[in-house]
Amino acid sequence: MKRSTIPALLILSAATMAGCGEDSGGVIGSTAKNIELESMPGAAIARTECGNCHFFDKTVRKVGPSLKGIFGQAPRTKGIPVEVWNEVSLDAWIESPTGVHPETRMKIPGIKDAEKRALIVEYLKHI
Ligand code: HEC
Repeated sequence: MKRSTIPALLILSAATMAGCGEDSGGVIGSTAKNIELESMPGAAIARTECGNCHFFDKTVRKVGPSLKGIFGQAPRTKGIPVEVWNEVSLDAWIESPTGVHPETRMKIPGIKDAEKRALIVEYLKHI
């Protein structure tokens, strides 16, 4: 965790306790959620492995489509033979995109480390 986020976390947890959960939809709630997300182990891995080509927080395209909210959805890209993005299909996709769809423009060697893949998928589930 970055040093600068620690005081923010302390302030936020104090604010959350004081508010007794009333602020879950407010600014403090969403900031706390972002900090929580960014501290997931998969967040940093996803930034390194996928961040050059994908946004996680905005819905616009970078090199590839945004990954925000894709979990539980059908692929946006035509031709990917996947019904819904879930743990199984995402795991297979990031292990070998061309293995799932030989024509894909997502030409990466794939993430061979299963634990790393699981952390990335866990992160994608929450964004
Ligand atoms: C070199 C750039 C690049 C990298 C790195 C990359 N992708 Fe992609 N990704 C793409 C492109 C381009 C597409 C669109 C595929 C197509 O058009 O065939 C895509 C498509 C996808 C899709 C399909 C989304 C949809 O619903 O259509 C998912 C899911 C995805 N990428 C996940 C990831 C994840 C997770 C990582 C990191 C492990 C990653 N990508 C790394 C370029 C990349």
